[in-house]
Amino acid sequence: VRSCQTYIDDVEDAEITTIGAIGDNKIGAAVQQAWVELDVVQCGYCQSGQIMSAIGLLRENPKPTASEIDNYMYGNACRCGTYQRIRAGIQRAAEILEA
Ligand code: FES
Repeated sequence: VRSCQTYIDDVEDAEITTIGAIGDNKIGAAVQQAWVELDVVQCGYCQSGQIMSAIGLLRENPKPTASEIDNYMYGNACRCGTYQRIRAGIQRAAEILEA
């Protein structure tokens, strides 16, 4: 869920995980590891959203194809153009989770 498009009243009773706590769960830790291994980040501006979306994707689809990744991640703009590395990072995180 994009926090910039969500009213706090709409989630007041929901459990909320932010980027600061993603390493506390298996998928988040795998994404963090993959991002570091592949040096995904350029400037970093978009990366909180990219990483949170990557985790959402892997929760729904543990082994996404390149096309599924592109479709799911559509709308997360990266001005640095790191889309290839983001896709590779998601695929690497899926491998880590599968091992
Ligand atoms: Fe710079 Fe995405 S890494 S905007």
